[in-house]
Amino acid sequence: MSAIELNARPSTNFADKLDQTQGLLRRAAKEFSPLTQASSLGAEDVVITHLINSLQLRIPIFVLETGALHHETLALLERTLAHSQADVHVYRPEPTNLLRFIRNEGQTAIFKTVEQRKACCQIRKMEPLSRALRGQRAWITGLRKEQSLARSDVPLIDTSEETQTPDSSAHSPSRGLVKFNPLANWTWGDVWHYIAIHKVDYNPLHDAFYPSIGCSPCTRAISQGEDLRAGRWWWEEETAKECGLHVKES
Ligand code: ADX
Ligand code: SF4
Repeated sequence: MSAIELNARPSTNFADKLDQTQGLLRRAAKEFSPLTQASSLGAEDVVITHLINSLQLRIPIFVLETGALHHETLALLERTLAHSQADVHVYRPEPTNLLRFIRNEGQTAIFKTVEQRKACCQIRKMEPLSRALRGQRAWITGLRKEQSLARSDVPLIDTSEETQTPDSSAHSPSRGLVKFNPLANWTWGDVWHYIAIHKVDYNPLHDAFYPSIGCSPCTRAISQGEDLRAGRWWWEEETAKECGLHVKES
């Protein structure tokens, strides 16, 4: 059974949610330029990219290609680069930092301690993210309230980091930026309904019970009844399960 057959169930107020999302994206493009969409090429992100292209918005997209993505994700990245009207930029880790980490800690260090795992996320995701967000006023993500308890209060527009002074690599790369979460109120069923009716190209791993897709060593399929992010860093405590992209400084 495909992810579409399994999940495409729109909410009764789906049309209103879609209206709200389209309005928000139009407003973001008009009033918050320069801005960019962060895409992991997961289900939510391919919906947002499809909306950006269909609304003909001048919003470039970036993908953090960590060097540890599944081949299915890399193939989708190629297709996205080939077909997207909006520009797609790919950011990769600094090879020197990455090779030093692997030389000193080994390729399986990420499974040993949370600190070593976070060090890998810092090199493969956070440092490239700081380059991707440099000079931007806002960014767009696919975060949804329903994804986890930690995300249950995700707003459509998050201005909590806007007033903080940008830059300084010691701080969060999104400091000083407004964050748009246009699918904050969408359900998983809404996301798949949109993919189904617009025939959006998606990662085939979703058909193999991978609802949330990150790097290959840190993502597994989920079983029936498990929550949507159960396959991410599955060996860690629930509270540790973030790579830093969406963690706020407090
Ligand atoms: S993560 O923090 O656990 O990795 P998750 O995979 O749920 O995040 O994705 C949430 C949002 O973060 C995505 O919708 C996307 O906006 C952004 N994101 C996550 N991974 C990437 C990536 N590799 N490249 C660009 N954006 C990403
Ligand atoms: Fe490294 Fe895993 Fe983080 Fe990817 S998700 S950057 S492989 S620790």
